[in-house]
Amino acid sequence: MIEYAVDCLKAERSFASSQGGSSMAIASRAKKVTTHTLQEMKQAGEKITMLTSYDYSLARLVDAAGIDVILVGDSASNVMAGNETTVPITLDHMIYHAQCVVKAVERALVVVDMPFGSYQGDSKTALDSAIRIMKESGGHSVKLEGGAEVSESIARIVSAGIPVMGHLGLTPQSIYKFGTYSVRAKEEDEAAQLLEDAKAIEAAGCFSIVFEKIPADLAASVSAQLNIPTIGIGAGADCDGQVLVLHDMLGITKDFSPRFLRRYADLGDSIDGAVKQYITDVRNKDFPNENESY
Ligand code: KIV
Repeated sequence: MIEYAVDCLKAERSFASSQGGSSMAIASRAKKVTTHTLQEMKQAGEKITMLTSYDYSLARLVDAAGIDVILVGDSASNVMAGNETTVPITLDHMIYHAQCVVKAVERALVVVDMPFGSYQGDSKTALDSAIRIMKESGGHSVKLEGGAEVSESIARIVSAGIPVMGHLGLTPQSIYKFGTYSVRAKEEDEAAQLLEDAKAIEAAGCFSIVFEKIPADLAASVSAQLNIPTIGIGAGADCDGQVLVLHDMLGITKDFSPRFLRRYADLGDSIDGAVKQYITDVRNKDFPNENESY
């Protein structure tokens, strides 16, 4: 029996090293992904996978496929509600989307975005909003945008026992301040500020930071200087993990095609074809047929 167990361990190690190192097994061993799992993955050099979800049905598919982290992003404002920016979405909306996702998820860590206006005022407001998200949605952690200016709020939320993910670089909630969705921190002073902000929010207690649309070299350098894992979107290959908006990578939002986006499916075309076929079949009295009737 012991020999059998040792053989299994050897086989697992040899498979893991053929996959790029003994660390490859951390994510696959985790029955439930926690912030601790992500920390271990960074230490082992194992990449973290993250995608957004906003509803039960898709979250169920994404979780079952083995994603490590599901972000209930405030991109729901664009993708679900059709708004131009993430500014209008409310705390109640975010809690609703998070409730739907949490019901579907068995394994992934669920991170819920704190929407614009729910944490910028002061750290007490930030804590109250984070507590509402945790109590009412059942999510496992929250995410908020910003650097040193939000570190007091991060520390207060973390000290209440709520894990916080940060978000630096392109921060869409500040779109009206920046005016464009272009690449951030290209200049030296902005890059130095990003490093300072990343260290400040790490010190405040963030368990991870999203880097959105910043130069790959900068993301690599800052990731190497932090102890917590970084998750990139348009931030090159050397972040500790990657995130995409689900509807973008599935080809549902066809009018959005930034350079960083890889499309893994063309569901927009598939849906278009299916809907057109249905219309044709109903109009031609081909649907429903006998077998589809009672
Ligand atoms: O809201 C969102 O989807 C996000 C990702 C772009 C990281 O914050």
